[in-house]
Amino acid sequence: KKVLYSGMQATGTLTLGNYLGALKNWVELTDEYECIYGVMDLHSLTVRQVPAEFRKNARALYALYVAAGLDPEKNCIYYQSHVSGHAELGWILDCFTYMGELNRMTQFKDKAAKHADNINAGLYTYPVLMAADILLYQADVVPVGVDQKQHLEITRDIAERFNNIYGDVFTIPEAYIGKKGAKIMSLQEPGKKMSKSDTNANATILLLDDTDTIIRKFKRAVTDSESEVRYAEEKPGISNLMDIYSAVTGKTYEEIEKEFAGKGYGDFKLAVGETVADHLKPLQERYEQLMKDKAYIESMIKQNDEKAAYYANKTLRKVQKKVGLTERI
Ligand code: TYM
Repeated sequence: KKVLYSGMQATGTLTLGNYLGALKNWVELTDEYECIYGVMDLHSLTVRQVPAEFRKNARALYALYVAAGLDPEKNCIYYQSHVSGHAELGWILDCFTYMGELNRMTQFKDKAAKHADNINAGLYTYPVLMAADILLYQADVVPVGVDQKQHLEITRDIAERFNNIYGDVFTIPEAYIGKKGAKIMSLQEPGKKMSKSDTNANATILLLDDTDTIIRKFKRAVTDSESEVRYAEEKPGISNLMDIYSAVTGKTYEEIEKEFAGKGYGDFKLAVGETVADHLKPLQERYEQLMKDKAYIESMIKQNDEKAAYYANKTLRKVQKKVGLTERI
């Protein structure tokens, strides 16, 4: 089987964007691939974290993966920080990455603008650590949202550069970007992607929002002065809601346009809100159950950390040898 690798930062709670752009696709792809999913806690350190909260968020993320339908007995779901190979390969790959390449990363520029008081070196080399994550496991495919596409490209560039020097060490990974939901936009500013760090709570649907909150946020979603439910570039608010509705129901834009022909935005927004809330309900219930079963989650973490380390070390030892580091005696 081919290897699938992906992960999410363990910062805050997940958004509907994380779910539709990534997690939902992961679940749909599990049977086809040998799957490895990381709780990317090292990446979260690029912004300042409150330790106790951070630890809780990382555990919640693990449980959300499982609640969404990933199976920790079949898929390897582990903590990035528990496998030291990430940091070790990250360093080696830093030495094969040019500053010019990192300077072009749009996410670095965005994040540096947002966190002007803490533009740390980790934020800058973030894509290299991400490349190490992926290459350590010899991943063939990496399902992500559109915003990670550039990071996948630099990962491929670094891997190809390394392979050109040392022979075929790394598998060159492909991004897998879903047709629907790959870029969910803010409900308040549809020109901007939905993000957990948004300061306007109404802009973002959180996976653990209750039904009333979800419906209320969709009711307040920014649209336009027309009243026709139609997918169009000049209608970013409505198009985003259609994208969400489509990703959740599997309906095409045409089918959605037909379904709401002659109805107003109010009816449409309510339908989107109810559909999303209904869809998330089972996940939320499983999540609540899981968070009560500490022993189960912990045994899964332990088992999978070991499995991940086994895969990672295989690649790491090979890389160390290729670059000429002295082998352990
Ligand atoms: P992160 O934690 O920001 O986001 C996790 C996943 O959610 C997707 N996503 C979205 N998709 C659609 N619409 C949105 N509004 C939206 N917001 C987020 C992201 O594209 C991503 O797939 N660097 C990564 C984490 C990471 C990683 C990796 C991913 C670290 N190492 C190795 C894959 C492989 C990140 O910050 O994602």
